[in-house]
Amino acid sequence: MRITVSLIKADVGGLAGHVVVHPKLEELARKRLEEARETGLLIDFYVYHVGDDLQLLMTHTKGENNAEIHKLAWDIFVEVTEKVSKPLKLYGAGQDLLKDTFSGNIKGMGPGCAEMEFEERRSEPILVFSADKTEPGAWNYKLYRIFADPFNTAGLIIDPAMHSGFIFEVVDVYEHKSVKLSTPEESYDLLALIGTPGRYVVKRVYRKSDGEIAAVSSATRLSLIAGRYVGKDDPVLIIRAQHGFPATGEVLEAFAFPHLVAGWMRGSHTGPLMPVPLRYAQCTRFDGPPRVVGLGFQLHDGRLEGPVDLFDDPAFEMTRRMAEEVADYMRRHGPFMPHRLGPEEMEYTTLPSVLEKLKARFVPAEAE
Ligand code: F6R
Ligand code: MG
Ligand code: MG
Repeated sequence: MRITVSLIKADVGGLAGHVVVHPKLEELARKRLEEARETGLLIDFYVYHVGDDLQLLMTHTKGENNAEIHKLAWDIFVEVTEKVSKPLKLYGAGQDLLKDTFSGNIKGMGPGCAEMEFEERRSEPILVFSADKTEPGAWNYKLYRIFADPFNTAGLIIDPAMHSGFIFEVVDVYEHKSVKLSTPEESYDLLALIGTPGRYVVKRVYRKSDGEIAAVSSATRLSLIAGRYVGKDDPVLIIRAQHGFPATGEVLEAFAFPHLVAGWMRGSHTGPLMPVPLRYAQCTRFDGPPRVVGLGFQLHDGRLEGPVDLFDDPAFEMTRRMAEEVADYMRRHGPFMPHRLGPEEMEYTTLPSVLEKLKARFVPAEAE
């Protein structure tokens, strides 16, 4: 049976600033998705949040980029904005809804979206990851470790189904172009690109032996769509695990190191990506640190069995402690790079007005 998994998210209002999604937003979203399940549009769904981002995980048989599914998500974001965020004056009510009317596909309208369609295997473990206060390129490091680094993923060496490697589809979010690179042969070319996560973003990963889809991320930049600051595009990721794909534990292994990502306060700082359980899926210190939640499901005829709250485990306590230490270390740099992002990556900046104000006071520098 061919199943589509769609994960669509938006920030449509935060509680106490940009900390967390209001439970009433989730409640109403659940009600609407339940109705869509009753009409048969959806097979199943799961609603959750990370930080101020409302997450709609849906399964169905309509394929990717389906107008009915995208409209369902769009209408829910609009309705919860009107019925909950605005009356309660939640912070940034409807902030990710950049267009007035739905035009067939939610991509390019503000919300983030990751979708994959596949033939459900005899047993189909699905892992979904959602992060807040960072950008889609934050997955680059994780995806490389999971699908191309044998020091992370033992199966690349010892599982015959994975031994020939994976193909990475990388999007240049500035030029709106993409390129497919094959690992392990083109690993260095791949790293040359995705080491710049603000520009080159891994969109999909395919298994080389049979072309099966293994992973898909949301890869947009709201600021580039809107042409003005509307927040970082807090990203989502779907990964198929086991039996010829990386094991659940190999996928999670990549999250044990809280690598540095762009985002955090005002979308303008570098900080560690901290894996947290759902109960800690809120952004506090300096509006962060950037957080990721991971949920595991077993699909059965498109129904979602689960979730397992994957980071709700002592095995990730050391990672969280390390993230806290790194957060503290980075914070001590205050307004200095590399804690503060470079000028081209900052979402907020006063630099042009400061330069304008000081223009007349700049004098030729003495020869060094
Ligand atoms: C980062 C983020 C927050 C805000 C910050 C300032 O993605 O959403 O860190 O940038 O709280 O928000 P405003 O300018 O709305 O007061
Ligand atoms: Mg927000
Ligand atoms: Mg957010």
